[in-house]
Parts: sequence; C-alpha cells; structure tokens
Amino acid sequence: MRNFTCVQDLGNLQEALAEAFEIKKDRFKYVELGRNKTLMMIFFNSSLRTRLSTQKAATNLGMNVIVLDINQGAWKLETERGVIMDGDKPEHILEAIPVMGAYCDIIGVRSFANFEDRDYDYQETVINQFIKYSGRPVFSMEAATRHPLQSFADLITIEEYKKKDRPKVVMTWAPHPRALPQAVPNSFAEWMNATDYEFVITHPEGYELDPSFVGNAKVEYDQMKAFEGADFIYAKNWAVYSGDNYGRILSKDRDWTVSDRQMAVTNNAYFMHCLPVRRNMIVTDEVIESPQSIVIPEAANREISATVVIKRLLEGLEK
Ligand code: CP
Repeated sequence: MRNFTCVQDLGNLQEALAEAFEIKKDRFKYVELGRNKTLMMIFFNSSLRTRLSTQKAATNLGMNVIVLDINQGAWKLETERGVIMDGDKPEHILEAIPVMGAYCDIIGVRSFANFEDRDYDYQETVINQFIKYSGRPVFSMEAATRHPLQSFADLITIEEYKKKDRPKVVMTWAPHPRALPQAVPNSFAEWMNATDYEFVITHPEGYELDPSFVGNAKVEYDQMKAFEGADFIYAKNWAVYSGDNYGRILSKDRDWTVSDRQMAVTNNAYFMHCLPVRRNMIVTDEVIESPQSIVIPEAANREISATVVIKRLLEGLEK
C-alpha cells in the first residue's frame, strides 16, 4: 500500500479485518518490520486518540516516531500557491513538506476542513500536497472529508460485537454547540457502504451529506423510525454540507440527543461514538454509561487499525 486516505486503499476488507484480528492477538508480531524506520506525525489540529493510538501502533511495529504540532512551535505555514507572503506565515508548505519527508520514512497528517471554501476542503488540498511533494507514503489521521483510521476501528468494533451477519447500523446526527466537519460521518458512511450491513442515516432536513458518501444508504428524517430494530447506533454531529450554508449550524435541537427514549426502540443496540463526545448534547450520561455503550473498546481499536495501516505502508516500502 502506498498511501491510505480512504477505504479503497485497503483493498479486500475481509483480508484487512483478518489482519486486524491477527494483530489484536499479538500486536508485537511485526516489531521487526519498522526497525530503523521513522514515522512523522503532523498535526494541524488537536487530537487525543489519534495521537496516542498511532504512536502506539508505530512502536508496536518497532518504529521511531516524530510528532509535530504545526500550530505549536513550528512556523506558520502558507498553503496557497501564488500568495504574496507578506503576512504572518513565514514558510510555504511546498518547501516544508519535502523537508519533512527528508527526515522520515512514512508521514501521517491530520488536517481538518476549514469551512471557508467547500471546494478547497473537498479537494483534500492539504493531504494531497503531502502525497504529491513529500516523496513518502502518506496516511490520513483525519483529513478534510474522511477519517479512515477511525472508520476502520469502527468496523473492527462492529465485527467484534455483532450478533448477526447483517446487523442494522444507524448513523444519527446529534446536536453540538460548534460547527464540526463531515469527515467522520462521510467516512463512516463510506466504510459501511463497503459492507453488506443494513445501513441507515438519520438527520434533520438540511444536514444531507455529500451524496457520493451517502451512496446506497437509506436516509430517514424521522430519528425514532430510523432507530427501530437497530443493532448499532453511531452518533455524530456534523455541520451543513449543502449550498451557501456549508459549514454552518442550522439546529441544536436536543430532541436529537441520543437518550433512553430512542434506545428503547432499538434491538438493544450498542452505542458508538468516535469521541471526544459532548455529554447531554450528543448522548445522555445514562446511555454512554450503560452496558450497551462500546465507545471505549471502539477507541481502543484505533491502535489496531493504525497498526494494520502502518504495517501495510512499511511493507510497501520494501517493494
Ligand atoms: N476520534 C478521534 O479521532 O479522536 P481525536 O480527535 O482525539 O484524535
């Protein structure tokens, strides 16, 4: 594998899942693979899980790790070509990227949507510049439109907990005080559409996701109806995708907060969220603390998804 930005990069999903469960049994099995290799993790945005799980994954594989927070201690980077650089950004990303590539073997990048320009965000300008100019394999640690390490961990978790071959998985919008990117819901939809699960998306009108991510999913505007018989509830907030309201919040309706009321109509569903989660906005204390909440094992599987992905990138170096 040369780069990892979306589900298609993994190839056969069943083989990737088998590899994940093999690594989960013995996460140091490939510790020699990364000897004398360096992973550089570049963060344009904050992180807890991605930072820790990816660093742990790299050490599982015997790698050295360099972490750089662009906004804390590095030069501020200009990302647009053609700009007269007379402002507050002293370095251009087009020099910075190949320099970073000179110090490592693999690069992970976290760069969220900035909500200023939908085309700029949806063209994945920043991570694609890393792919183009670093000379190194690059993987997404959440980009503008996708969060594939999270979605892979989500899939591993569903496979571990599902009680039937084809579970009903419902992704629900839930309220949040700030405008959040569509990367997690886009990506989750993309990965669920790559399975044969029954997949339903529910959200208030106006929160439609990019149709290319929605794919064949059923969209149901009535949240209670969507939850009926569900085996897994995947909650997430996202800001508006469509039209002039791109990046805006239309609703903070707490009727959409996942509570015992909605969970009661499910098939005793498991509750999932990528974290961090705003309690009593996205989900009530009762639901997230219930035995059906699997948010912690879901987060723990981030180490597994990252180990599989970095292992495959290391194997790609040898070809
Ligand atoms: N779920 C997730 O990516 O968490 P962090 O933003 O803390 O990395």
